[in-house]
Amino acid sequence: MNAININGGTPLYGEMIVGGSKNAILPILAACILTDEKVTVTNVPKITDVDDMLYIMRDLGVKATSSGHSLTIDCSNICNYRISNQHVGKIRSSVILLGAVIARFSCAIMAHPGGCDIGARPIDMHLDAFRQMGVEIRYENDCWLCNTNKLKGTSIALPFPSVGATENIILAAAMANGETIITNAAREPEIVALQDIINLMGGDVKGAGTSTIRIIGKKRYHGCEYTLIPDRIVAGTYMLAACATGGDVLIKNAVPSHNALLIDHIKRMGADCNVLSDNSVRVHKSKRLCAIDYVNTLPFPGFPTDLQPQLMSVLCLANGRSVIRESIYESRFKAAQSLCSLGADIKVTSNDTDGHYAVINGVNDLKGAEIFGTDLRCNAALVIAGLAAHGNTRINNAHFISRGYEDIVGAFLNVGADISEC
Ligand code: EPZ
Repeated sequence: MNAININGGTPLYGEMIVGGSKNAILPILAACILTDEKVTVTNVPKITDVDDMLYIMRDLGVKATSSGHSLTIDCSNICNYRISNQHVGKIRSSVILLGAVIARFSCAIMAHPGGCDIGARPIDMHLDAFRQMGVEIRYENDCWLCNTNKLKGTSIALPFPSVGATENIILAAAMANGETIITNAAREPEIVALQDIINLMGGDVKGAGTSTIRIIGKKRYHGCEYTLIPDRIVAGTYMLAACATGGDVLIKNAVPSHNALLIDHIKRMGADCNVLSDNSVRVHKSKRLCAIDYVNTLPFPGFPTDLQPQLMSVLCLANGRSVIRESIYESRFKAAQSLCSLGADIKVTSNDTDGHYAVINGVNDLKGAEIFGTDLRCNAALVIAGLAAHGNTRINNAHFISRGYEDIVGAFLNVGADISEC
């Protein structure tokens, strides 16, 4: 997909179904390395981050077969602990393989991980935790070399509730000797999903979803079948699109508790947002939305950084002045430039001493233009803005969006958008 073309300005009506979670399946794929038996995961989204992760895992000797949205992983012939496939540089979550490979082989070699260009994204917390578990680590020839005689359970206090570091520690601790306690752990729903599947495989993990997680190391794990949780960021993107365009959209498989704060913000902006009993959320917007004085992105259950660009698109059209503070990444306001090309009024001030802020003064309408995507969630924000803008918008570099959205063009076509990929 090179570009997305949108003739925007029309309200959306109908149903949108949310698929499985990108940020849950990626650590769950790593968890499969803990067992020689087959693990089948259903509700897996067809996105390029999963494809890239499977490329890397196949290089390790893993067999992966898919049928529809079901994926079966067989690690019985895993024979390689060098995570150095050229795909490692493409996705951040390749780092999540480190914990599981060390757990399985007592050693690992990995090229430095890549991912969206939204900040430096170091992995110091991951490596410090492994060192506390008895892993020797050095950096040579652009690779991290990890080795341990005995992976030992210990208490680890994270300086920041890092999602990836929490997941990596859980995966290494799953086969360590003894008990590991993580304090200041990340609380995201994707961590709970990882706990659930590891326990389904015979593990003993408790506390995911809270700041303290306890893991008892086990020698062996068995296969299982697991249904992936829905993607809360895709669900939130759809909700925000309905807020931007107006109309009446039913978002199914939305798990409201995963987006409680977003739903609160949508109501505060003045849209109707009703949580229905079957894990659906209905967004109905008929009048101009109000600005939100201040939003600060925080670790879960705070406002998710992965919905910040999409919210910024909505606030471009809200009545009044909104301020967004981005506290997780140092350069995640890249959508602002393209939004301003559509007629938005956004001022970004970003430095490491005062912090990273976007001040958005709402305008009455946006006008279509040719714009450029820079990363996964920036592109999602530009799709939302293009759907709301009057006239034609062409989003170049559209390929980033396939990393985390299975078929965003089809999803919006289904609710009446005039959108196509080219
Ligand atoms: C996960 O990334 C998600 N990715 C990100 O989603 C999400 O934005 C992020 O969590 C925060 O919620 C996946 O789950 C695959 P972190 P992760 O470790 O684990 C710093 C998307 O769009 N940090 O919680 O990499 C880091 O630089 C993606 O789906 C260190 O300094 O996030 C960042 O500023 C984008 N040292 C902050 O912590 C470390 O060792 C949060 O990072 C690790 C992280």
